[in-house]
Amino acid sequence: MTLTGILLLAVLISPLAKAVPGTAAVAMPDVHSAAASAAVLVEGGNAVDAAITAAFVLGVTFPEAGNIGGGGFMVSHMDGEGAFLDFREKAPLAAERDMFLDEDGNFVQRRSMVGPLGVGVPGTVRGMHMAHQRYGSLEWERLLEPAITLAAEGFEPHPQLLKYRDESLDKFGSDTNFADYFGPMEAGAPFKQPELAETLRRLAKDPDDFYRGRVAGQIIAQMNQTGGLFTAQDLAAYTAVWREPLYAPWRGHVLLSTAPPSSGGIALTQLLTIRDAINPLFRNVPHNTARYIHLLAEIEKRVFADRGDYLGDPDFGHVPVAELTDPAYLRRRAMEINAEAISAAESVKPGLESTDTTHFSIMDAEGNAVSLTYTLNWEFGSGVVVSGAGFLLNNEMDDFAAKAGVPNAFGVVGGNMNAIEPGKRMLSSMTPTILLRDDRPIMVVGSPGGSTIFTTVMQVILNVFDFDMNAQEAVNVTRFHHQLPASMEIRYDLHREIDPELRRRLETLGYSVVPNSWGDLGDAHLVMINDRGELEAASDTRGRGQALLIEVPLRAGAKAAP
Ligand code: GLY
Repeated sequence: MTLTGILLLAVLISPLAKAVPGTAAVAMPDVHSAAASAAVLVEGGNAVDAAITAAFVLGVTFPEAGNIGGGGFMVSHMDGEGAFLDFREKAPLAAERDMFLDEDGNFVQRRSMVGPLGVGVPGTVRGMHMAHQRYGSLEWERLLEPAITLAAEGFEPHPQLLKYRDESLDKFGSDTNFADYFGPMEAGAPFKQPELAETLRRLAKDPDDFYRGRVAGQIIAQMNQTGGLFTAQDLAAYTAVWREPLYAPWRGHVLLSTAPPSSGGIALTQLLTIRDAINPLFRNVPHNTARYIHLLAEIEKRVFADRGDYLGDPDFGHVPVAELTDPAYLRRRAMEINAEAISAAESVKPGLESTDTTHFSIMDAEGNAVSLTYTLNWEFGSGVVVSGAGFLLNNEMDDFAAKAGVPNAFGVVGGNMNAIEPGKRMLSSMTPTILLRDDRPIMVVGSPGGSTIFTTVMQVILNVFDFDMNAQEAVNVTRFHHQLPASMEIRYDLHREIDPELRRRLETLGYSVVPNSWGDLGDAHLVMINDRGELEAASDTRGRGQALLIEVPLRAGAKAAP
C-alpha cells in the first residue's frame, strides 16, 4: 500500500484528542517524518519501528540535523522494559588531545567545526539497526522505504530549511563541498538526492555496508581526499551500546533518561530535584517572572559546574552518577542557592569532593514509547558531504573540551573527563526522556539545543506539572537559559522579544539579558497523557514540526495504552 493510502486509513487528529485505546501519537520535527512514522504505526509497527523510519526520513528532509552521518541516543520503554541505546559518535583512533590547538596552544574553533577534522565516527546506522534487532516488528527494508522515496523523488524544501542552508553556505564557503550538494536546493521545486537514495537502498539491504562495505569505502575516500583522520579500521570497529538507563524518582514518578556519555539525564535529574528541594521559594512565583527565571538560573549554575568537571565517556573514566543524582547531595546543593542575588561564578564549584540536533517523541497504541535525539552537532555538521554517497558528516569533535576551561561552540567548558582521546565518545547534552507513572510512560519529551537541551526539557516538564499547561502551550511558551561560565547572563530565544518590564527586573538583579547566540532555545517535541487520561502531542512552533494523534486498529492480543 502507498504512503498516501495508508495515511487515508488513519484518522489524524490535531492534538487534544482522547486517549482512547488504539490511539498512538508522534511529535516530529517535520511533516515528512510525521507522515512516514504515522504510516508505520497504522500498519501495525511499534514505537521503535516508527522511530527508525523517522530517523532515516529526517536524514533526507531535515539535513541540518537528521542524519546517517552523525549519532545520538534513544530512550525507550517497550513492553514494560526501559532501555537506553548509545549510538553517539567516537573520536577517530588517530585523534590527539591537542588536535584543535595552534602552535601557541590556542583553541582554533574552525578546525573542530568546519571540514573533516571535526568529524566523529558516525553511529546512527549501527544504532538504528541494533534497535531493530532488539525491538523491531516490521521488516527493516520496509522501514527505510519512505526515506528512499523522498530522496529519489524529492521533497519541497521548507523556507526554514532554505534559510539555514543560506546561512551555512556562508559558513562553509569553499572549505567543504556543502555548496555542491545543497546549493541547488530551491523553493517550490522538489529537491532530489539521487546519491543518497542509492546509499539508502544499499543500507536497506545491508546496514553493515556503512561500516564495512561500499559506503564505508566512500566515507574513507572522502576522508583521504580532504585530510580527515578516520580510517577503515575506525568504521569497522565502531560499536553502539545498550547501556543501563538513568532512573530517578521525581514527584511519585520515575524519570527514564540518558546516562553518560550524555550529561542530559543527570542534569535533568539535578535540575528537577533541586527545584523541588527549594519548593518554598517557588511558592506563588508566577511563570517566567524575574524571580522564577533567577531561581532556575541559580539551579542551572550548580548543574553546569558539575557537568564541566565530572562528566564524560564512562568507558574512559569513572562518572559518579549515583553521587551526582543522590537526593541528599542535591538537597545540600539546594542550600547553596541565593534567592535574592546572583551567586558569583567563583562561588559555584563542582559539588562533589574531588545547532543543530533534532528530537522526536513517539507513543504507540500499546503505550510503548520512544524518545530519540540525534545530531550532526551544528547545522549541517562539518559541511562535508561524502562524495558519491550524498550524506553529511557530523562535527561532533567540537563537543570535546579541546582545551581545559576554554568554551566550545555552545559556550560550555570541560576538563580532563571530556578531553580528546582516541576512540572516546564526546560528552553530550542530549536528553531524550520518558516519564513513567506506575511503570507506564505518561510523557515522552526532548529537544535539540546543545547545552540548552536539558534546561529546555526541565522547563517543558515544569510547565505541565507546575503551571497546568497543555502540551502545545508547554512547548511553545518562551524559555530562558543560564549556564556557566557566563555566570551573570540570562539568555532568551533569539527570535522572540521579551517583555521590557521583565528585562528591567532581571537587569536590576544584576543579570545581562541577551538573545541566545545561535538561535531559539530548542525545538521541543512532546507526547503526554494528561490528568484527564487524554493523549496529547505537540511540536514546538519554533520549528517546522508536526504532531499527530493516530487511530490505529489494535492487533490481536495487544494491550491498549492506559
Ligand atoms: N552536539 C550537541 C550535544 O550532543 O550536546
